[in-house]
This record gives sequence, structure tokens and C-alpha cells, in this order.
Amino acid sequence: MKKLILSIAAAICMLGLTACGNAGDSSSAPAEKRTQAETVQQDTGEEKPSEAAEAEKTSDKAASVQNTEQAQNTDTNEDTGNDTIVVYFSATGTTKGVAERIASTSGADIFEIIPSEPYSDADLDWNDKKSRTTIEMNDPDARPAIANDNVVLDSYTTIYIGYPIWWGDAPRIMSTFVEAHDFDGKTVIPFCTSGGSSIGRSGENLASLAGSGNWLAGGRLDAGISESGIQDWINSMN
Ligand SMILES: Cc1cc2nc3c(=O)[nH]c(=O)nc-3n(C[C@H](O)[C@H](O)[C@H](O)COP(=O)(O)O)c2cc1C
Repeated sequence: MKKLILSIAAAICMLGLTACGNAGDSSSAPAEKRTQAETVQQDTGEEKPSEAAEAEKTSDKAASVQNTEQAQNTDTNEDTGNDTIVVYFSATGTTKGVAERIASTSGADIFEIIPSEPYSDADLDWNDKKSRTTIEMNDPDARPAIANDNVVLDSYTTIYIGYPIWWGDAPRIMSTFVEAHDFDGKTVIPFCTSGGSSIGRSGENLASLAGSGNWLAGGRLDAGISESGIQDWINSMN
């Protein structure tokens, strides 16, 4: 009898573990949603990424890997003697690839803004009105924390600031970053990647939050932009 009760209890435990394992997998549903080809509209009316944007993202990931070794990192805060730095945030690697190419083309230092709480696939689900990004972007006062904001900008005179477009604007973590730094006497060049939307007013919005610096218009760069394309873009900024 005792044996029978123990066997029944073990079977119940196994069933419970299996159910918990599946519940913890938050990536499957949003990933499926993202394969949909249609362009969707958010409450704000901003354009949403299309299937072409997803393909662009995939090709950029390869470029990002190729360039990783060339990139410098300023995590140590050492004065590298460089007067230019590329600062960027990238949730899925597209902006990272472009940022690394700007840094390698211009010989600039590079610094990646890392969120204290990484963005999961579920967080990035633009189809979910309750996802973390939807909630953050609907709240102009949201200021997601940065895990590694130890970069010292004092020695730099030119700062490229890169980010993905989320709902037509810069992610709120960029607001966190620009409010924490002094851009006085510096030229700031915003750049973005997106599924198709232009940089819009995102650079101006960041400039206004920063409250200092000579912010140029900047622009949107294609995920697969070549180094010569980047060089042309850099030249057009001068
Ligand atoms: C929450 C969210 C909102 C987005 N909103 C837009 C948008 O309004 N317009 C657009 O063209 N792309 C939009 N995108 C697509 C991203 O801008 C694009 O995939 C970008 O290149 C991703 O950069 P990353 O890989 O560096 O994070 C959005 C993506 C996410 C996750």
C-alpha cells in the first residue's frame, strides 16, 4: 500500500515539472508572431517593421559577428586618446553591427549601453499591448536602468549615438543615458536602424532631454550598409 502511494506521488511530481518547464519558455509565442509579414500599426500610428525588416536584421547579425573583433570597448574608462566615440544600444544586434562599422570606419572608440534588465523576446513583442517595450514607449517618463554606465565622455568631442527605432522614437533607455551625461561642447550625431521608419524626431527628442551639446540631424542607416557607405554618411555630416 505504502509502495502504491509513493508511486502515485512520484508520477504527480513528474507531471508538475513538465508543466513548469513549458511555462518558463517565454520566447516561443512572440517569435512566431514576428514571422508574420504584415506591417502593423501601434496606437501611436507609427509604422511597424515588415518582413523585409526581419530579413535585414538577419543579414546584419552576420555582419555584426564579423566586426566584433575589430571593435574597441571603453568599459575600462581608459583614455584612449581618441576624440570620437560611438555609443549605442541594440536589443537584437542590428544597431550593434552598424555601430561597429562606424567605429571601425572612423577609428572611433565604442561603448555599448547594456540594460540592467535584458530585453527578452516577450519584452520586444510589439503585438502585445502589455509587453515591456509597449509599456515603456507609452510612458515618456520611463527610464530603464543601465547596467554599465561607466563611460566617461569628457575626452571626446564627437559622439555618435545609435539605437533602434521603437514606435517611431528612441528606446527609453536612451533617455536614461542622455540625461546622465553632459554633452556641453560636443558634437552629437544620432543614428538609428529600423524596419523602415526614418530617424524622425528621435534625435531632437534626445537633444532636448540632454539639454546640452551640438546635436546634428544624423540619420537612419541600413542594417547592411557597407564601410564605404558609412564613410559617405560620415562625410555628409561634416
Ligand atoms: C518594440 C519595437 C518597436 C519597433 N518599432 C518600430 C517602428 O516604429 N518603426 C520601424 O521601422 N521599426 C520598428 N521596430 C523595428 C526595429 O527598429 C528594427 O528591427 C531595428 O533595426 C532593431 O535594432 P536592434 O537589433 O539594434 O535592436 C521596432 C522593434 C521593436 C522591438
